[in-house]
Amino acid sequence: MTPIHLLAICGSLRAASSNRALLEAAQELAPEGMVISLYNGLAGLPHFSPDLESAETLPDEVTQLRSSVAAADGLLIACPEYMHCLPGSFKNMLDWLVGCTDFPGKKIALFQAASRHEYVPEMLRDVLKTMAGEVVEEACLMLPARSNALDKRAISEDKLSAARIQDGLQTFADAIRTARS
Ligand SMILES: Cc1cc2nc3c(=O)[nH]c(=O)nc-3n(C[C@H](O)[C@H](O)[C@H](O)COP(=O)(O)O)c2cc1C
Repeated sequence: MTPIHLLAICGSLRAASSNRALLEAAQELAPEGMVISLYNGLAGLPHFSPDLESAETLPDEVTQLRSSVAAADGLLIACPEYMHCLPGSFKNMLDWLVGCTDFPGKKIALFQAASRHEYVPEMLRDVLKTMAGEVVEEACLMLPARSNALDKRAISEDKLSAARIQDGLQTFADAIRTARS
């Protein structure tokens, strides 16, 4: 079976981010044949400007981001809500991905660790749809977090959370394999 490679992107830069912990738990719980790499370049991306979009001026960090997206079979996104909106650094990354020719049609699963988040789930879907990304709804999950202090161990050792993550990843893998065939 051809392996599946996912690029996991966390929208939070917080060292103890619950959303990153969720993605790290997914790395541990990934089914056989699936490899999940965590994107760690968010904080280093320059501010988006259309003036930098040419081949001569495109920042190296953006070239790396676009290559990582191109190489991935799918994206796993976990993003918090800030002021009823997407966090600025994460939105900056999405702005850079508008010029990524490999983004349209890319399969995406949204994994979110959230206590309430009223606006971001729908907003993120709307933005990704505008960018022609393909959200695989059956693979998405929202992990209820009573605090924002979840860690990888607490998530992966909780049987219900672990089962939901494994189900989501398996559904995502099936959708990617179906699209390949
Ligand atoms: C600047 C800031 C603004 C926030 N605004 C909201 C908000 O509008 N709605 C909400 O549900 N949570 C809001 N939160 C709470 C975060 O979404 C929540 O703590 C989340 O778990 C943080 O994700 P992380 O643990 O991955 O860093 C805000 C947190 C911060 C730091």
